[in-house]
Amino acid sequence: MAVIIDGTALSKKVKEQVRLETEVLVQKNNITPHLVVILVGHNPASESYVRGKERACIKTGILSTVIKREENVTNQEMLDLINELNTDNSVHGILLQLPIPSHLDSELIISSISPRKDVDGFTPVNVAKLANGNGELIPCTPKGIMKMLDEYQIDITGKQCTVLGRSQIVGKPIANLLLKANGTVTICHSKTINLSAVASMADILVVAIGKPKMVDDTYVKSGAVVIDVGISKVDDILCGDVDFEKASKKAGFITPVPGGVGPMTIACLLENTLLCFKKIVGESK
Ligand SMILES: NC(=O)c1ccc[n+]([C@@H]2O[C@H](COP(=O)([O-])OP(=O)(O)OC[C@H]3O[C@@H](n4cnc5c(N)ncnc54)[C@H](OP(=O)(O)O)[C@@H]3O)[C@@H](O)[C@H]2O)c1
Repeated sequence: MAVIIDGTALSKKVKEQVRLETEVLVQKNNITPHLVVILVGHNPASESYVRGKERACIKTGILSTVIKREENVTNQEMLDLINELNTDNSVHGILLQLPIPSHLDSELIISSISPRKDVDGFTPVNVAKLANGNGELIPCTPKGIMKMLDEYQIDITGKQCTVLGRSQIVGKPIANLLLKANGTVTICHSKTINLSAVASMADILVVAIGKPKMVDDTYVKSGAVVIDVGISKVDDILCGDVDFEKASKKAGFITPVPGGVGPMTIACLLENTLLCFKKIVGESK
């Protein structure tokens, strides 16, 4: 039976570090780190994620503002809003809750966020830095995954690391981070031939495909580390992309859903907000 990687416990540690550091910085600078989240429309999942982020900010002493816009907001209105936040000295982090309605140009809007306030690490400047191996603001989910591997002393050097999924927010950035950590990285996607055979050669398997419970024990090498990024609701129950029951019998380490990658994503968002704050108020080395 696999060791279960406890993302909830580790996220508490990270959040406590953020809380302590925030306390010191607020005392020293007399300014509170401030994250602004932009929420467009009324997607229930997005609304729930945003509430979770707000709660986490409050607990760690970070000021959180949610700016809501109706579904029919225009590109120009979004650009104007972001421009205002970019130049507002009381705002240190800007997060655009994704997905946004399809009539909006998400690439254009994300690109307009100041790279210094880009807590998600999605702007072209921060994506390029990560791809070049010198990322500073690293997307929260991949950053959280790397922290989990580190916490459980999982050695990446020379290991076969296989990522299922090539999205901008998970697949590509985690592949870059594993490569930087000297893993031998393979990226798979919907056109990969014989996916289970490729996956089952991995020492470290990261699954981010959005297909509930698709990855069973036939995708898993004996003793492998399995990181399940997926979040779906099936019959109103949360589950990941990995069939936990089957895969955990073969894996050496595995993340559960819920309680794995999800809580680490929020913890890393808080860390990134603090990172932006420190840069902006000149607190970083
Ligand atoms: N835990 C967290 O904090 C967190 C954070 C972000 C996302 N998520 C979850 O993680 C999952 C993935 O999110 P995402 O934003 O990366 O998704 P996405 O943008 O939809 O990308 C999915 C990727 O998976 C690939 N894919 C889809 N079906 C596949 C299949 N049958 N076989 C192989 N590859 C397949 C797609 O390939 P193509 O490129 O060929 O289409 C694509 O690259 C979702 O469940 C999402 O809710 C969780």
